[in-house]
Amino acid sequence: MSMIRDIINKKRPLNFHLIYGSRSTDDIIFRQQLKTLAKQHDFLTVDEVISEPDADYTGHTGYLSAEMIQRLTGDVDGKMFYLCGPNAMYDFCKPELEKLGVPGRRVRIEANGPPPAPQKLTGWPQGLETSKEVTVTVRGRGQFKMPVGEPLLNAMERNGYQAENACRSGECSLCRVKVLSGDVFNPPQSHLRSSDRTFGWTHACVAFALSDIEILI
Ligand code: FES
Repeated sequence: MSMIRDIINKKRPLNFHLIYGSRSTDDIIFRQQLKTLAKQHDFLTVDEVISEPDADYTGHTGYLSAEMIQRLTGDVDGKMFYLCGPNAMYDFCKPELEKLGVPGRRVRIEANGPPPAPQKLTGWPQGLETSKEVTVTVRGRGQFKMPVGEPLLNAMERNGYQAENACRSGECSLCRVKVLSGDVFNPPQSHLRSSDRTFGWTHACVAFALSDIEILI
């Protein structure tokens, strides 16, 4: 809705197609306003896709699959895709866009912050309690203790160490710190480049220290 309002207010020369996937029409936020805006503005198309429709619903039904996206948007070439929703929706939609050949640089994802329960994610060491304390050494500057279940950036800031940041969701890479020793858990949402992994950089906003570590800020 903010993007639509911005296009209207600043008269931006853009077309905007909102494909709103939802379980039922009752779950659609701004439903009436969106319908009204779509009637008033040629640049705006709004499509609802409902997975569990009421008997009297006559619109699109199903999920935001590759087939549905293609049917509604037509040719995907040159279009930017912006995903906004829960992480489960991103996990579903990203591969669907890949099936359509949409390159990763044309997909943007609304940031949802660090994972609230990293111990539930694939790759977390089995049996490791999130309350376990580890020591972080910041080379040339000092040390602090933190529980392994806390995002590294939060713990750094609590202890007076700042790193540039913006998305705090693993997307933008502004908060990169170099891990000189020790083990760090990088969740799937951490968009690390392969060169980051090779040379030991991590996105501190979504990284979790699994052992005593030494970092370079
Ligand atoms: S602040 Fe953007 S990746 Fe950490």
